[in-house]
Amino acid sequence: MAKIFIKTYGCQMNERDSEQVTRMLMQRGHTITAREEEAEVVLLNTCSVRDLAEQKALGKMGMLRTLSRDRPIVYGFLGCMAQSRGSTLLDEVPHLDLVVGTQKFHRVADYVDEAIERKWTARFNDARYSVVDVEEEENSQSTIRDHVLGGRQVTAFVSIMQGCNMHCTFCIVPYTRGHERSRPIPEIVGEVKTLVDKGVKEVTLLGQIVNLYGRHEFATVKGKSPFVQLLEALQEVAGLERIRFTSPHPIGFRTDLIESFGRLTKLAEHIHLPLQSGSNRILKAMHRTYTAEKFISLVERIRSVTPNVAITTDIIVGYPGETEEDYARTREVVERVGFDNAFVFKYSKRKGTPAAKIEQQLPDSVKQVRNRDLLELVNSWAKRRSERFIGREVEILCEGPSKTNPTRLAGRTRENKIVVFEGAPQHVGALLKIRIVRSTGYTLYGEPISH
Ligand code: SAH
Ligand code: F3S
Repeated sequence: MAKIFIKTYGCQMNERDSEQVTRMLMQRGHTITAREEEAEVVLLNTCSVRDLAEQKALGKMGMLRTLSRDRPIVYGFLGCMAQSRGSTLLDEVPHLDLVVGTQKFHRVADYVDEAIERKWTARFNDARYSVVDVEEEENSQSTIRDHVLGGRQVTAFVSIMQGCNMHCTFCIVPYTRGHERSRPIPEIVGEVKTLVDKGVKEVTLLGQIVNLYGRHEFATVKGKSPFVQLLEALQEVAGLERIRFTSPHPIGFRTDLIESFGRLTKLAEHIHLPLQSGSNRILKAMHRTYTAEKFISLVERIRSVTPNVAITTDIIVGYPGETEEDYARTREVVERVGFDNAFVFKYSKRKGTPAAKIEQQLPDSVKQVRNRDLLELVNSWAKRRSERFIGREVEILCEGPSKTNPTRLAGRTRENKIVVFEGAPQHVGALLKIRIVRSTGYTLYGEPISH
């Protein structure tokens, strides 16, 4: 049995995949350690979406080479970078043993055991043993289904689909995650019921284009997309209090979904709606197939049904050929929508994607200036959008001690705002009414209301 250190880079889907791997390793009797210095097996679950993420994982793996123990250490890269770089990683990182791609997470425990056997037993002591498995696997979308729930964990992620067929020109995800595949509704409902039985009250449904869930597999029924049908099925799960999802694509965010927010009481009022750019020229080049006007009108339609909704987004600055004029359009849309928050990314050239081949790549200095400028604008909106809660009574789901001050508790509103308050241990896991008294930009502070 080994002590295993797993580190995850990137998105919530990667976190979720690591949870599946963790669970399978624990079932084999291994222990998971948060302390890399005592690790006997090192697994890095990687992200490829920007170069920086890859460099971080490569740097970490390099640093951990010097871990010395009384038996050889097993090193593995999992996930997106493993998928996109495959066996070339073995040349780049000589001490690497395992390279396991995004459709093979359920095989990691086997490979770890095999590597341990090979490297630890005198019989083999096979120092150059290595496995590269980046094949496709039928039904791999259904292999991410088990959870590791901490003590009184009340929120959980649920992967409902894998892959993406959209092929935005900047994005490596279709290459690392493969084509779209969705799980059947009963299977997802079953997973959520199991979670609720263990105390979970809020689930976040995960997919790269989550609103297009099931479009290849399942039919639209009475004008309702498979995704809305799934939301309706989850609305019926007794004991489940809140449903979230991330990330939808503006394309396919149709009336049936917009109206669900008015109808399905468990659907929380937060939508992460990636904009990417506010310039129609750049959107077209990115292959996003909507315009700034369409995006704004979608936001207006959402707000007309759900006035309180929080809307967050992803924006890329410095896409190849982006002019000052294009960037000004992005600023305009940000001003116009007033996002509750936004992730701003400097365009990063990803090998093999169409945008990487465009000649007019922008210098980092230009990206840097736009990035900083946009962040400032986004932050000022985030502040305003938080302050609207001051004086209001909100419902929060208490998740546990506050990360910044463990003597206080923290939870989230339905709009996904973090609220810190003085509470009692029995509040953990409960839905509470809180009056918001102040805001520090991103965090709200409040007092429980006793009835
Ligand atoms: N639809 C996915 C998007 C995955 S990538 C989801 O569910 O989140 C997350 C975000 O990273 C994208 O929305 C985009 O804004 C950003 N991104 C993707 N590729 C990028 C690149 N090459 N450079 C900079 N940012 C990128
Ligand atoms: Fe990437 Fe576009 Fe899909 S951002 S994940 S190709 S919707």
